[in-house]
Amino acid sequence: MTWYTGDALYDTLLLIGFGYALLVFAASFVGTAAYGGRFGSKGRRGGVKLGSRAGWIIMELPGLLVFPVIFFMGPNAYEAVPLFFLAVWMFHYSNRALVTPMLMRVQPGSAASFSLGVIIAGWITLFLHGYFNAAYLTEFGDQYTRDWFQDPRFQIGLVIYLFGFGLNLHSDRILRNLRPKQPDPDAPRYRIPYGGGFRWVTCPQYLGEILSFTGFAVMTWNLGAVFVLAMTVGNLVPRALYTHRWFHKNFDDYPPERRAIFPGLL
Ligand SMILES: NC(=O)c1ccc[n+]([C@@H]2O[C@H](COP(=O)([O-])OP(=O)(O)OC[C@H]3O[C@@H](n4cnc5c(N)ncnc54)[C@H](OP(=O)(O)O)[C@@H]3O)[C@@H](O)[C@H]2O)c1
Repeated sequence: MTWYTGDALYDTLLLIGFGYALLVFAASFVGTAAYGGRFGSKGRRGGVKLGSRAGWIIMELPGLLVFPVIFFMGPNAYEAVPLFFLAVWMFHYSNRALVTPMLMRVQPGSAASFSLGVIIAGWITLFLHGYFNAAYLTEFGDQYTRDWFQDPRFQIGLVIYLFGFGLNLHSDRILRNLRPKQPDPDAPRYRIPYGGGFRWVTCPQYLGEILSFTGFAVMTWNLGAVFVLAMTVGNLVPRALYTHRWFHKNFDDYPPERRAIFPGLL
């Protein structure tokens, strides 16, 4: 079936990818992904479970590997615009797969909570995401001549991306600093975060992630990037709602004016 690039494999997988994104969104109303201290799968019996740090690294590694492999198979891999997007991608996924997990402060005694199902779902997404974008940027997309750097879609998308990425990093840092540098089993596991994007919403780190993928989709102007944006929204908006409810349930003094993820809206 061809409907977008003219390549049957790409177009069929892209259609399947959007169907998968819809499924993930629907499933998020039943329960959020089983990882992390609040939502991890510790209550379930059996099955493989990893700690947060190992879970994140293993789950996100295909983000660092699949994209460059497909990228350098494309005929336009050494053009300036695709190379710029390669740099953005590697920067983004080095942070997600390596830097963030290594800096993470895991509460001593935390049960391994990262389920195998979450890791496999992450791999499927990252394989598709890597293939869709790398193949489009270096083979199927015909807009990526040097003029693309002057195109308003590229420039606006880049600004949105940088703003979102900055918000994500800053919010992750605030959360990280809620726990002491040296592991302390007596310190409370969770506190209320303040400052930065937390002034307005419970999950600015998720808002930042959504904005960075919005920026990436605008600056590359391709449906492969819209696929991962749909996956991210389908995953993180319901997760922010769960997290918001969790804070209200567990902290009587939780700031009532905060929304879950979109300031003033949701
Ligand atoms: N692209 C995507 O689809 C996607 C999906 C998921 C996540 N992400 C990104 O990956 C990053 C991590 O996500 P996550 O879902 O693991 O986020 P998270 O809930 O923000 O947790 C991040 C870290 O902070 C700790 N933490 C969270 N709230 C805390 C609090 N109130 N007090 C003390 N420590 C707290 C967590 O500990 P515990 O583990 O012990 O709770 C964990 O170590 C975020 O930047 C997110 O945007 C992206």
